[in-house]
Amino acid sequence: MATSTATAPGKAILFGEHAVVYGRAAIAVPVAKVKATAAVTDAPPGSGCTIAAPDIGARVHLSTQQEDPLALAVRLAIEEVGIEEEPDWQIKVRSDIPIAGGMGSGAAVSAALVKAVFSHCKLPAHGPPEDATVNRIVYAVERLHHATPSGIDNTVVVYRQPVRFVRGQPPQRFDIARPFLLIIADTGIASSTAAVVSDVRRAWEQDTKRYEAIFDDIGEIAETARRAIESGNVDALGPLMQENHRLLCKLDVSSGELDRLIAIAEEAGAAGAKLSGAGRGGNLIAVAASKSVETVREALLAGGAAGIVVTQIGA
Ligand code: PMV
Repeated sequence: MATSTATAPGKAILFGEHAVVYGRAAIAVPVAKVKATAAVTDAPPGSGCTIAAPDIGARVHLSTQQEDPLALAVRLAIEEVGIEEEPDWQIKVRSDIPIAGGMGSGAAVSAALVKAVFSHCKLPAHGPPEDATVNRIVYAVERLHHATPSGIDNTVVVYRQPVRFVRGQPPQRFDIARPFLLIIADTGIASSTAAVVSDVRRAWEQDTKRYEAIFDDIGEIAETARRAIESGNVDALGPLMQENHRLLCKLDVSSGELDRLIAIAEEAGAAGAKLSGAGRGGNLIAVAASKSVETVREALLAGGAAGIVVTQIGA
């Protein structure tokens, strides 16, 4: 039986989360060390389409699940391909991207599913027009998770490129002049992006002027960081992370656990660290010189981090 497989990487927002929802620039990179994989296999005639995701204990039937993100990704993909009847397929999804951790697990799973469906239907799943189509579908699925996604998560995992993202504008790729090491540490605390984003919205509604000023500052930091990365000024990133994190604390999206692990990373020699993603739990990221990376990694693990990915950003 024919099987078609596709993958999508995780992602890390380097600078600009939350402010990006309000039109400011943010930058993010794909993290290929973790990924989601979807495999579509033909099933016996009449058996319909089932999607199994053993890593999250989910098993859904395309015909009966209306509000499920896995089913929606597949339904939108087959609509795009022009299939009208429910296909007889068994689809399996695997992912080692931590769920609700700020590494784009939902978007990566959707992207892998859409690409696997396209590939099974003999549609090219890569290339400029196809990526744009996959991105549009994955964004539609992201809207199930929270009502106002900026679109940064789906854009990074679909295009698999470092991206400068401004809501409503075409994503811009940026160059990494000098590679640098990024430490991504999981607090082990699951956090709902929808809940944090809606708390920020409520606070913004009550004190719009103050929040807009914080978003402006965060957007400036994201642009400064992008220019630093493009010109190879990697030393600038640590202090910019510290400054971005201080502003995220003002938005009240950090947590005691994030702040504690960030302090541990900096005491162990990281040049700077910040939360990454929606906050309250999920991940923090840190930059460190290669001689300090192992010490920072060990300190974070000893301090209670649930998992660590060290990855080189850039060639
Ligand atoms: O928690 P994540 O990885 O889905 O990141 C959310 C990023 C936000 O800026 C908080 C929301 C958004 O839609 O951009």
